[in-house]
Amino acid sequence: MSSPLLVRDRSALAGALEEGPRVAVMTMGALHQGHLDLVAAARRHEPAGQVIVTIFVNPLQFGPTEDYEAYPRTLDADLETLEGIGADLVYAPSVRDMYPGGKPRVTVDPGPLGQVFEGAIRPGHFTGVTTVVHKLASRTVATAAVFGQKDAQQLAVIRQMNQDLDLGWEVIAVPTRREADGLAMSSRNRYLTAAEREQALALPRGLDAGREAARGGAGACQVRQAARRAAGLAGGPAGGLEAPDYFEVVDPATFMPLDDSWDGRPALLIGALRVGHTRLIDNTGVSWMIE
Ligand code: PAF
Repeated sequence: MSSPLLVRDRSALAGALEEGPRVAVMTMGALHQGHLDLVAAARRHEPAGQVIVTIFVNPLQFGPTEDYEAYPRTLDADLETLEGIGADLVYAPSVRDMYPGGKPRVTVDPGPLGQVFEGAIRPGHFTGVTTVVHKLASRTVATAAVFGQKDAQQLAVIRQMNQDLDLGWEVIAVPTRREADGLAMSSRNRYLTAAEREQALALPRGLDAGREAARGGAGACQVRQAARRAAGLAGGPAGGLEAPDYFEVVDPATFMPLDDSWDGRPALLIGALRVGHTRLIDNTGVSWMIE
């Protein structure tokens, strides 16, 4: 497997698209092993197809007080990382290439899924995601696209958009890659100081505790409480749909919180923690249903 071809603008991308199946792996760069898992999944999905990695730090999905400027941009290192692992093409456009008319006046509404949890805490975030993903879908004309399960709400929004707006993709979800101590890999982990890195472990600790409680047959409220306690959050009720730090048991497709009428069917325990200036999100599947 050789080095992928780099294209920097839309017309070069159009000229580099090959006949046959194409799988898109959309990223904001600062690639880590979790991203490489996405590329590997794309290659497995289409052994002879074209695997296209997009690298674009999308201004539209960052709020005015968020880390758009600080977000790591490491294209040279990313290209090295992508050598020989099965990517054929890298599309790394500029902001001007992606948004030639400036901020788009027409955007893609992520619907109700875009209003809760991360959507409530980061207003406009999912509109930015769906808009850029839709544009990248139009430009790469892929038959399949790969996304990580770590961003579970993003994945749910994209699945819904794929269905509702006829993107025609097969959406491939790839399990979260974790560090040895359980922290989910994320490009934002590099912001953490050593002390913050320790504090961040409260997130996987909470998820583990919640999953254990679910294994023991606990209801959704107990699962949430177990997660909150293990993470050292105040023992009170749910963080709520707009709390910056939360653990919640939700329906994986709608992200609606489940209560104790939950019958143990597969659900997601989602969590978010702010550590210093960094917000981290993570999730795990929970179920106690005996099929
Ligand atoms: O998950 C990401 O890296 C981004 O949200 C995505 C899907 C590439 C859109 O900018």
